[in-house]
Parts: sequence; C-alpha cells; structure tokens
Amino acid sequence: MRAGVTGIVSESPEQTRAFGRILGALLSAPLLIWLAGDLGAGKTCLTQGLALGLDIPADEPVTSPSYTLMNQYRGRMNLFHFDLYRLNRIDDLDDLDFASYLDTDGVTVVEWADRFGELEGGGLRIRLTTLDENRRRIELHAGDKVPPDLVARLLDAWRRENPS
Ligand SMILES: Nc1ncnc2c1ncn2[C@@H]1O[C@H](COP(=O)(O)OP(=O)(O)O)[C@@H](O)[C@H]1O
Ligand SMILES: [Mg+2]
Repeated sequence: MRAGVTGIVSESPEQTRAFGRILGALLSAPLLIWLAGDLGAGKTCLTQGLALGLDIPADEPVTSPSYTLMNQYRGRMNLFHFDLYRLNRIDDLDDLDFASYLDTDGVTVVEWADRFGELEGGGLRIRLTTLDENRRRIELHAGDKVPPDLVARLLDAWRRENPS
C-alpha cells in the first residue's frame, strides 16, 4: 500500500457494508466523505452500511442516486448522498447547490469524487479498488477536517469485528 494510505481488504459485500456501518457508528459530528472507485467497486454498498451506522431506518434502503444526483436520509444525523457519475460539467454542481452541502449539520457522501479532482479538500477520502469478484481494497486518507483519531478508531473497531 502507498505511504500515508491505510486501509483494509473486504472479502464480501457484507463486509463492505459492515465497514461502512462501523464508520457511521463512530460519527457524531458533520463529515464530508469522498468515495472514489470504478463502477461496481462498492461505493453504494459502503454507503448503505454508513446509513445503518447513522441509525437510518433499514426500511429506507440507500440506492445509488445516479439519476437524482442527491438523496437525503434522516438518522442520528442527516445523510446527504451524492453521485457525480451522471454529471457532465463541474458547473452543473452549482445547480445542485452542492457547495452548501460541503459544510452542513450532517454527513455528506459523494460517489465518484474523483471525477472532478479539485473537490478533494478537507474530508475523508475513501478509495475502493476491485481486486477480484468478491474482494475490494478500501483505502482511507484523512484530510485536515477529519477528527485526528477517526481512522485509527475505525481500523481498531474493524479488527475487533474481523480478527485475522
Ligand atoms: N467485497 C465487496 N464489497 C462491495 N461490493 C462487492 C464486494 N464483492 C462483490 N461486490 C458486488 O459489487 C457490486 C458493488 O456495487 P455498488 O456498491 O453499487 O458499486 P458502486 O456504487 O461503486 O458502483 C455489488 O453488486 C456487490 O454485490
Ligand atoms: Mg454507486
């Protein structure tokens, strides 16, 4: 793994969801999360777990907002779920009032964050890479607005649930 980047390998969609759930459960303050990775890498899957960790009712399933661009869910904190896949121009973000969601009372998750490289400042960057049919590398990179111990607590909790 590259220097300065930490992460885990998920062996199944359930594990990716569990990883997201653990992350969500650790959150008690607003956070911006950038999700990068190819189609099918598991960005939406991780977000589904995140929603569970934020106590968003499981009967309100999180689906990819590819066509709507943004879905909002209500839990312990609001979850604003963006997907930039269908976005053609960075200027289209203005129409979505995107900038106002980067600094909210809730958790903002942005799929396809790497489509527009200039958006990357400050938040938690998560990159998912497909290793094979069922395995995904999940890499974490904390920006300067991320609580300093968040990544360490996430990895600790993950290892407690998934002792190797
Ligand atoms: N370890 C894994 N983690 C996440 N998804 C996985 C994993 N293994 C297989 N998959 C499959 O990959 C697909 C991921 O889809 P999705 O989360 O919608 O990806 P994305 O939002 O990145 O396009 C799902 O069909 C899921 O079942
Ligand atoms: Mg998706």
